[in-house]
Formats: sequence, C-alpha cells, structure tokens
Amino acid sequence: MLLKIKGITKRFGGLIAVNQVSLQVAEGEIFGLIGPNGAGKTTFFNMLTGIYSPNEGQIGFEDRQIQGLKPYRISKLGISRTFQNIRLLKEETVLENVKVGMFGKTRTGLWSAILGLRSSKKEEKFVTEESQKIIELVGMNGYEMEMAGSLSYGNQRRVEIARALVSRPKLLLLDEPTAGMNADETKEIVQLIRKIRGNGTTVILIEHNVGMVVGLCDRIAVFDHGEKIADDKPEEIISNPAVIEAYIGKEDDKKETEYAAN
Ligand SMILES: Nc1ncnc2c1ncn2[C@@H]1O[C@H](COP(=O)(O)OP(=O)(O)OP(=O)(O)O)[C@@H](O)[C@H]1O
Ligand SMILES: [Mg+2]
Repeated sequence: MLLKIKGITKRFGGLIAVNQVSLQVAEGEIFGLIGPNGAGKTTFFNMLTGIYSPNEGQIGFEDRQIQGLKPYRISKLGISRTFQNIRLLKEETVLENVKVGMFGKTRTGLWSAILGLRSSKKEEKFVTEESQKIIELVGMNGYEMEMAGSLSYGNQRRVEIARALVSRPKLLLLDEPTAGMNADETKEIVQLIRKIRGNGTTVILIEHNVGMVVGLCDRIAVFDHGEKIADDKPEEIISNPAVIEAYIGKEDDKKETEYAAN
C-alpha cells in the first residue's frame, strides 16, 4: 500500500471535522472521496499535505510516518495537490505558474536562484523544460505566455494540475477538479486523470459529481459528518444504503414530516 492511514482525527474547537478515519490507497489507484458539504474531505487532504496536523492517528506514506510533518517536507516526499478554490498567480504567465511547482524540488533552491549563482542557470533551463513537458501533458501547449487570469475556468484548473504535477509526485490529490465545468470539460479532465495514472502517479480525488467518480475510480470512500461511512468498489458504493441515506436522507426526513403533518 502506498498510503496507510490509521484513525486520524481533526478537531476545530468543539467541532470534529474528521473523526477516526482509516483508509488505504494502493499504488496506481484512482481513489475517489465523496460526501456531502462539510463532511471533512478537504480537511482530510489538509492533514495529508501537512497544512493541519492530526489530533490523533497516523499517516503512513511508503515506509514513513508523515503525520505532523511540514508541508514542504511532505511535498518533497512526493505528495502534491490542487485546491478547491483555484490558487494561481493571475498576473503571471502559465509557464511561471507551473514553474512554481518545482521549488523545493531543485538542488540549488530559492536563495541561489535569487543570488543568481551559476549552477542555477542550468537548473533554470531544467525547470523550464520540465514545466513545458507538463504543460503539454495537460493539453495547454501554446498557452505558455498567456496570463493565468485571462484563461477560462477549465484551463485554469489544468494549469493548477500542471503545477502540482511538475515535481513528479507519487501521489496527486485533486480537490474538486471539475467544479464549475461543463460536461465536455469534465470528460477532458477524466481523460487527463487517466493519463496521469497511466504515467505511474496514484490519484485521490474529491468530487461532488458522483457519476464521474463512479466511472473513473477503482475505489471510493464516502465521508459524512467527519466519518468514513463506506469504502468500496464503485458499483457497491452506489447501492450502499448508508451512502444513499447520507445523500438523500435529509430529503426523506422532510417528506416523512410532511406526510405526518397531513
Ligand atoms: N480551519 C477551520 N476552522 C474551523 N472549522 C473548520 C476549518 N476547516 C474546516 N472546518 C470545518 O470542518 C468541517 C469540514 O470541512 P471541510 O472543508 O473539510 O468539508 P468538505 O467535505 O471539504 O466540504 P465541501 O464539500 O463543502 O468542500 C466543516 O464543518 C467546516 O466548517
Ligand atoms: Mg472541500
């Protein structure tokens, strides 16, 4: 298993955002994470990437325990992500935005780059070439010199994915990569995710589009109120009563109350 999570919990004051979640992801899998708003999905990613430290539990990645490590260390170990709300430098070009994803990965690092040391020239070339390869992989070649802020929403999402991919992570975390996309754009993202997995990267994606996750993922975990209520193959997930309840339970409660009132 690439990722072995045991009983992680995150509390914000009295609120338990993620409650005792255990989960395993195998290398090469496309793993889906679904659940209603506020279920704890993004908080889960924030623990995997070191933005939050779990209050309890362990996160095993390859042969290490990574819970509580700083984000840059986790990123160096090979986990990278995109954000639910796009975070691009809108006044910078596509190329510059993608290059940002390489910091921390290169040998000379930020200071040498700023001081203009000789070795960083070679490195600059390497970073640019790597970035261009990834821009092509996500289908954004030709847009390198466009300002990120001028791109369509769908293309901004691709650039975010490129930035996360340029460091060649072993595990890529996508937080709602198709949010706000139409059906055609969604199909293209599905193809891109398959291609990324084909290149050997394991993917976990958070999605609200259940149809899309069911068609794409090898396994799916369902969160509700911070707890993992199911973890199974897609075809089992869609017929799981607890899952159906989590999605439409509230609606049914309302109907029952209405019947009772009549
Ligand atoms: N930094 C924080 N401080 C306090 N509460 C937080 C914080 N981050 C998240 N929460 C709360 O934790 C719960 C889980 O939030 P989270 O963002 O993980 O949900 P989600 O499943 O990603 O939801 P969505 O589908 O709407 O993105 C929510 O009740 C949220 O308000
Ligand atoms: Mg979220």
